[in-house]
Amino acid sequence: MAESDNILAVPRHIAIIMDGNGRWAEERYRPRLFGHKAGVDSVREIVETSRTIGIEFLTLYAFSTENWNRPPGEVTGLMGLLKRYLQSELKTMLKNDIRLCCVGQQNRLPTDVQAVLHQTISETQSCQSMTLNLALSYGGRSELVQAVRHLAQKCQDGVLQWQEISELSISEHLFTAGQPDPDLLIRTGGEHRLSNFLLWQTSYTELYFTEVKWPDFRKDQLIEAINIYNRRQRRFGKIGAQLQAE
Ligand code: FPP
Repeated sequence: MAESDNILAVPRHIAIIMDGNGRWAEERYRPRLFGHKAGVDSVREIVETSRTIGIEFLTLYAFSTENWNRPPGEVTGLMGLLKRYLQSELKTMLKNDIRLCCVGQQNRLPTDVQAVLHQTISETQSCQSMTLNLALSYGGRSELVQAVRHLAQKCQDGVLQWQEISELSISEHLFTAGQPDPDLLIRTGGEHRLSNFLLWQTSYTELYFTEVKWPDFRKDQLIEAINIYNRRQRRFGKIGAQLQAE
C-alpha cells in the first residue's frame, strides 16, 4: 500500500520552511546553487502532491528579508531559479487550477522577476482548487510593522477608531488576509526555529521538524508529516475532555 493511502485527513493549510539546500549541496562537494536547483524539484513534487491530496493552501518560504544579506551570486542565482520556475510552471498551475499568490515585499524583487510574478498571479487569479503562496522577501516582523502602520493611518484619517482594532483587523492587514492560518508548519534541514516566518499566523499551528534536507523532502516525507500531524490533538487552550464533549 502506498504511503498516501494511509492519510486520515489533510490539513487545510500547510506552511513550509524549505531549509537545507546549501548543506545538501556541500555534502556532495557541489556549489550551493546546485542544492537550490534540486530544491526546485522538491517544490514541484510538493506542490503537485499537495494539490492531489486536497491541501487548500500551501505556503512556501522561498526567500526571507534576511536572505538579501547572502553573497550576491547566491541571491542572483536564487532569483534566476525563481523566474525560470514561474515561467515553466504557469501551464501546469492553470491545468491543475492552482492560484499563485505572493506574500512579502514584491517591490524589492528584481524587475524582471516582478514582471513574471505579476503575470503568473494575474493569469491564475481565478483558479480555485489550491492557493500556492510563495513567501518572497518575506519577514514576519516587517509584515506586522506594515499592518500596524496601515491601521494607524486609518485611525489618523478617521476611518477607523482605535477601539476597533482587533485580532481580525490585524489579520486582515497581513499578506495572508482572507486565508486560514496554517494548521501545520514543516521545517526541513534539522533546525528548530521559525526564522521570522508567519509569526502572527502560527500562534496555534502544529510544528513539525525533520532532519531531512529540502532537496530530499518529497511526497513520502510530506505524507509522513501529515500522518504525524493527524495523531496530535489540537486543543486550542482547552482540555481534552472538553474536546471529546464537543
Ligand atoms: C534554505 O536553504 C533555502 C533557501 C534560502 C531558498 C529556498 C529556495 C528554493 C527551494 C528554490 C527556489 C524556490 C522556488 C519557489 C522556485 P539554505 O540555503 O539556507 O540551506 P543551508 O541551511 O543548508 O545553508
